Amino acid sequence: MDILQHFSLKNHNTFGIEAKAKEFVAVHSVDQLRSVLQENKTKKKFILGGGSNMLLTKDIDALVIHVDLKGKKVIKETEDHVWVESQAGENWHEFVLFTLNLDFGGLENMSLIPGNVGTTPVQNIGAYGTEIKDTFASCEAMNMDTQEMKTFTLSECNFGYRESIFKQELKDQYIITSVVFKLTKRNHAIKTSYGDIIAELANQNVTEPTLKDVSNAVIAIRKSKLPDPKELGNSGSFFKNPIVLKTEFEPIHAKFPEMKFYEVSETEVKVPAGWLIEQSGFKGKRFGDAGIHKNQALVLVNYGNATGQEILAVSRDIQQTVFKKFGIRIEAEVNVI
Ligand code: EPU
Repeated sequence: MDILQHFSLKNHNTFGIEAKAKEFVAVHSVDQLRSVLQENKTKKKFILGGGSNMLLTKDIDALVIHVDLKGKKVIKETEDHVWVESQAGENWHEFVLFTLNLDFGGLENMSLIPGNVGTTPVQNIGAYGTEIKDTFASCEAMNMDTQEMKTFTLSECNFGYRESIFKQELKDQYIITSVVFKLTKRNHAIKTSYGDIIAELANQNVTEPTLKDVSNAVIAIRKSKLPDPKELGNSGSFFKNPIVLKTEFEPIHAKFPEMKFYEVSETEVKVPAGWLIEQSGFKGKRFGDAGIHKNQALVLVNYGNATGQEILAVSRDIQQTVFKKFGIRIEAEVNVI
């Protein structure tokens, strides 16, 4: 394994930001990962997966370890279920298609999400009514200090909305090396209740959708709303949808009765940040090479040569304007480095 110096990360982050790693190494097996950690004990380290959920605002003054472990296989089955394991470095969407081609159900609503499998549990990725936690069985991870492997079960991951133990108590302590999903072999729970999916299936005249139909509908919706990082640098939703206490929401809603919201618990509602940003006048705006996507205001984009600092400045402007107008704070979903 070669450790490269002053390595450009432009092709390793979906925002397409030019930033350099002081040192960079790609590991292709658990053994290589262990050796790199053991041989570089004193160095500061930064773990890089698919680079789809981060905004680089500066060079990384550390040894960047790119987790590039490959492989996917069925490890156990019953009549109704199958457990499929993927190594961390597999591309998420290719893994989803692999399971769908075998007619396994559970991941179809999360088609076309950018990034690698290993980072999906970190922020409990989700889309169109499904989250990783709905099919997650377990994951294997290496302790960065001791190099010991540990299996994390579903309950140990403390999954929440775009949250997990890997973003909280265990932040920067473990490297996920593989993930196991429990999928259905029959009696699939087809989830089409998310508004856009119903409309897209109706549009395609599909009345009894298969797993592939749902996946294709999600792909069509995502392609119409979300920019392809290969064509326009972006990191998916830049912000989380804010969760607001009902007691705080009521006076805001009285002032803005057209505001959309979803109940998430007896005491809280979730407000679509995309709506707040659009109503604040940012949708489709461009500031130099940094901008807000024209079809989905939650997504910030890099038109070519924006720096991370420029995109960060736009994101702060959005946060302040939204707060001034609605009194609601929106938080970044991507990791700002
Ligand atoms: N909306 C607007 N203007 C916009 C965008 C959205 O008014 O510019 C309104 C829509 O009309 C709709 C509501 O906001 O009523 C929700 O919009 P949408 O269904 O597009 O979903 P979202 O809440 O904006 C979330 C996820 C996406 C995921 C979609 C679909 C977060 C932060 N984002 O977006 O995830 O694809 O739901 O499930 O939860 C990602 O995390 O990178 C991502 C793309």
